[in-house]
Amino acid sequence: MAKSFSFNGDGINFQSGDSVAAALIRSGYRALRRTRFAGQERSIFCGIGQCFDCLVIIDGKANQRACLVPAKQGMQVEFQEGAGKA
Ligand code: FES
Repeated sequence: MAKSFSFNGDGINFQSGDSVAAALIRSGYRALRRTRFAGQERSIFCGIGQCFDCLVIIDGKANQRACLVPAKQGMQVEFQEGAGKA
């Protein structure tokens, strides 16, 4: 059985060792958040935890860097609007 988490309610399959970002990019998702003031979409830029472009909400906690968080079965990941809601 494939391992998966959800992104805005959609099922995202992942492989052992994937970060949340890697699984999302592989699944075709590019926009992970929208900036607070300009409202511009952001995605993966550095991929190593330095730029903070990949912020998402994970299990209700905002401002999680998708490129650093290992994908886990059943986690709930959400697109982050601005500074996030949590
Ligand atoms: S892509 Fe730069 S911190 Fe995640």
